[in-house]
Amino acid sequence: MTFLKVATTDELWAGEMMPVECAGHCVLLVNLDHKIYAYENACPHLRTPLSEGSLQGKVLTCSTHGWQFDAGNGRGINPQTASLKSVAVQVENEDILIDVCDTATKGEQ
Ligand code: FES
Repeated sequence: MTFLKVATTDELWAGEMMPVECAGHCVLLVNLDHKIYAYENACPHLRTPLSEGSLQGKVLTCSTHGWQFDAGNGRGINPQTASLKSVAVQVENEDILIDVCDTATKGEQ
């Protein structure tokens, strides 16, 4: 595991999401009630960047065809068979770090 800083908690308020790039991979950070989640920033349908969608509560909706996901666990809401690719994330003090090895592995799947 190799965690690298990609943002600070000051940049990502509760209820918001933001895209970051790290080691050539596009990752979506989501702050739900001050807990940070990270996913590959690509819809599992046709790979639209999820950062172009919307976040209402914990429901993340893709902007292209409206697929919806639970941003707290990455599971599909509609359709339920879809799921987001999670990326390991840590918060140290105010720094948000993601595991670049995790993004590399999952990006190749
Ligand atoms: S690309 Fe996201 S729902 Fe189709």
